Amino acid sequence: MHLHKYEKYWLGLGIIGLIAFLLILGFGAFYLGTHPQSHGELIDPENLEMNEAFHEENLGLTKVDEGRYVLNVVASAFNYNLGTDESGAPISHIEIPAGSKVLVQATSPDVVHGLNFAGTNINMMVEPGYVSALEVQLDNPGEYTLVCNEYCGVGHHMMFGTMEVVE
Ligand code: CUA
Repeated sequence: MHLHKYEKYWLGLGIIGLIAFLLILGFGAFYLGTHPQSHGELIDPENLEMNEAFHEENLGLTKVDEGRYVLNVVASAFNYNLGTDESGAPISHIEIPAGSKVLVQATSPDVVHGLNFAGTNINMMVEPGYVSALEVQLDNPGEYTLVCNEYCGVGHHMMFGTMEVVE
């Protein structure tokens, strides 16, 4: 069989391109490992207390300045820990004034969870070993449901909360 000179060139180029593609894919997918897209720092999932944000008293919504809030959440099977109220009861509903900026920080002590306030830009993957962080501005008043959008086990559907953005 006779191959034209240029056919050989292009064949060679195709093979080189394919190898380069597979190397890049393999490097990206395996060498660097996987992590949630919005992770900031590492954390020991068995010792969440190592990060001040996840101390029991710092969980939930805290006002840090005029129009600025921090929301620290521990997502675990099968609950979002948003802190406790004055009577010690777990909080599942938070309220925040429209136009506020909120820094959401979340982590998990067990398995991968999602943290999505449906209808807002707050949509994170929460992976044990990482602190997921995201700052958003909440401009649109309304009630938003917090849901877990990573299947995490039999109680997956029980993970929810609500956030009201008030005028
Ligand atoms: Cu947590 Cu699904």
